[in-house]
Amino acid sequence: MKKPTRVNHPPAVELPPGNRALIAPIYQSVKFEFETLAETERFFRGERPGFFYSRASNPTTRQLELLLAELQGRADCLVTGSGVAAIAHTLLALTRQGDHVLCFIETYNPTRYLIRRVLGRFGVTHTMLSIEDAAGIERVLKSQPTRLVIFESPTNPVTKIADLSALTTQARAAGALTVMDNTFAGFHQHGNYDVDLYLHSLTKYASGVGDVLGGAVIGSAELIRSLRADFGVLGATLDPHAAYLILRGLRTYFVRYREQSASAARIAAFLAAHPAVARVHYPGLPAHPRHALAAAQMQDFGTIVSCDLKGGAEAARRFADTLKLFALAASLGSTESLVVTAQMMATRELSAEQQRLSGVTEGTVRLSIGLEDVEDLMADLAAALAAAGS
Ligand SMILES: Cc1ncc(COP(=O)(O)O)c(C=O)c1O
Repeated sequence: MKKPTRVNHPPAVELPPGNRALIAPIYQSVKFEFETLAETERFFRGERPGFFYSRASNPTTRQLELLLAELQGRADCLVTGSGVAAIAHTLLALTRQGDHVLCFIETYNPTRYLIRRVLGRFGVTHTMLSIEDAAGIERVLKSQPTRLVIFESPTNPVTKIADLSALTTQARAAGALTVMDNTFAGFHQHGNYDVDLYLHSLTKYASGVGDVLGGAVIGSAELIRSLRADFGVLGATLDPHAAYLILRGLRTYFVRYREQSASAARIAAFLAAHPAVARVHYPGLPAHPRHALAAAQMQDFGTIVSCDLKGGAEAARRFADTLKLFALAASLGSTESLVVTAQMMATRELSAEQQRLSGVTEGTVRLSIGLEDVEDLMADLAAALAAAGS
């Protein structure tokens, strides 16, 4: 074999039987082959297991899928190249012309955009309510055939809490699928509710350090199989190296989530007592309007704390610009603390009434609490609140 040939057919090094790596190797390969054409044909006919092309499946991404399914307490999972890809793929795969979708004002902006603009182009209609409008949810589900209900809890950014038991019971009775973007609550929460599909942005708590994008859809074997049918051609695949980084991040998921939630709870209490703050949004605070419901549904209240500053938009600007330890950046759930203002989250798609119902005011700021020392974070917040209040 000449050297130009050799570099394309390097020597294989396989682990001998009885010897294993503690960290599974990254299968950074797009292609897999079988010994013979006959075996390849058997694979295509579904008569033997294996891998062929990583757009459809790959051992490293599969390891991540199996782990996430188990964490969320469902049979199967499909991972995607970003959280938004998981949302888009689910919506596109599950709806057809003439279907109706129930969605909410308090939903991640791109999800609302997908429903309104993308599904709308294909003849899918929708109704958008507030997640707290129990009567409206009941009325729509009883009066209009609905393919799916898509929702979040706690919601972004003002941490409203969906009544999961009521919502899932009513949707089930109406024959509608429930799709929950569970990114804020994490993989260890809400699995005991009758939710059909959980969506996650793996970019957030799974990765933890914000160096990789990823998404997941988790549900029954049957639903995930039906999503997989379109998956290979929609192409929103997660790269194996990204899957490896997310698997690595998940090793510390529980300690991070719990430690960051504990800091968030202290910071929420600190903000609630501060004179420059009009209102704090954190489901762990007894003053939260749905604290009792949140306490019944969740073990950890999460790492997102929002508050409305008394001085409105100007105060929010001074606050965000004065903070030293909170990066003025998108995303959440990473080990460093982050801040975003209402202006950064603004959407022109909502009417004035919908804006009011969203609960976001000009002085709303959202904090994502990281792993820094909580005393340092509170000192930084105190300095920024002094600047905001002055
Ligand atoms: C609730 C929620 N869902 C989905 C996403 C999208 O995730 P990604 O940025 O990985 O596409 C985000 C991102 O901020 C989010 O906050």
